[in-house]
Amino acid sequence: MPASALRCRVCEAEHELGPTAVCPRDFGPLDPVYDWDELRRTVTRESIEAGPASIWRYAPLLPVAAPAEPRLAPGLTPLVPAPRLAAALGIGELHLKLDTANPTHSFKDRVVAVACAKARELGLGTLACSSTGNLANAVAARAAAEGLEAAVFCPADLEPEKLIATAVYGATVYAVQGTYDDCSRLTVELSFELPWGFVNVGLRAYYAEGSKTLGYEIAEQLGWELPDVVVAPIASGALYSKVAQGFGEVVRLGLVDGPVPRLIGAQAEGCAPVATALAEGRRVTPVRPRSLARSLAIGSPADGELAIGTARSTGGDIHAVAEDEIGPNMRLLAETAGVFGETAAGVTLGGLREAILRGQVGERDRVVLLVTGDGLKTPDPVADLFRPVEIEADADALLCSLGAV
Ligand SMILES: Cc1ncc(COP(=O)(O)O)c(C=O)c1O
Ligand SMILES: [Zn+2]
Repeated sequence: MPASALRCRVCEAEHELGPTAVCPRDFGPLDPVYDWDELRRTVTRESIEAGPASIWRYAPLLPVAAPAEPRLAPGLTPLVPAPRLAAALGIGELHLKLDTANPTHSFKDRVVAVACAKARELGLGTLACSSTGNLANAVAARAAAEGLEAAVFCPADLEPEKLIATAVYGATVYAVQGTYDDCSRLTVELSFELPWGFVNVGLRAYYAEGSKTLGYEIAEQLGWELPDVVVAPIASGALYSKVAQGFGEVVRLGLVDGPVPRLIGAQAEGCAPVATALAEGRRVTPVRPRSLARSLAIGSPADGELAIGTARSTGGDIHAVAEDEIGPNMRLLAETAGVFGETAAGVTLGGLREAILRGQVGERDRVVLLVTGDGLKTPDPVADLFRPVEIEADADALLCSLGAV
């Protein structure tokens, strides 16, 4: 087993590797502990490259053993150059990390695969979560692939595409009259009573580690080099922080040279508790979300303080993006890169644009932008672009209207 314990981020006490949501002393969040001397001896570029074409190539750096028979394995998604988008933005080098290529089209397949491996190790028969949509998709699909039950708790007014893409796998979808934060509170209460694997409650310490693999992959896919800047969306703040942690770990292992990239985070203005707290130099306080970017609408982010620490320690920043820029950013990404990202991608691109405007990202920087979810699940903000040219099934008439005859 690669990890040896769970350590409290507040009091640093160590606890056994169980389904423990928070430190029993002070409710502090928990992170797995690894033996870095041992890992430095055993993990090499070659050992990773010889592994499977999925997140499980990094199994020694994760808190669970790789499944004996990995099913629906996520990860090793494409990292593609986007020169037309770079030119439109006025920067030199831009790559897109297409996590839309995961089994349920978002990065959540990474975190769920790790949490589920722990759930199976503990013999739990039901996977569960509170979700803003994508996590529900990933939990439902993984449970189906593994032969487990799934129960997901989502705000009732989520995009129908996301709810249908969860129900199809056979999961029980609880449509909660309330916000994501109400769903989250509900699952915390239920986790005391039900023997289920709540991936983002009791299994959160394992789940969150899955996002580190995005950092590992970017370094490996750039030929074991680090970019200068990485741009990521923020909801709970786990993804943003764990990607930076992943870069720190490949440096620590001697697989790449530092420094860790500057992490630029992005939230939608209608739900920007972390961006606002960082800008105002204070602690994160909950907000009531009112945003188009439903997947990022977490008003009380579990890892908000961690995200602020990540922004400061990497020399990055976190920006709030205007709601009316989300759709146009989705369009710009699609039109210049051929990539249809969801609302979260529109927010992420907005964060990059703001960082460029403020001079935080320049022409000489090598930039990676995370596309964490698929636009087919959130088509509404760009639906008005569908203005088809209605024609008869008559080539001559069309050629004539094109002036070609
Ligand atoms: C598409 C997408 N991107 C980013 C995030 C943010 O993840 P985190 O909660 O780890 O900050 C989410 C969360 O649901 C998401 O669905
Ligand atoms: Zn503690």
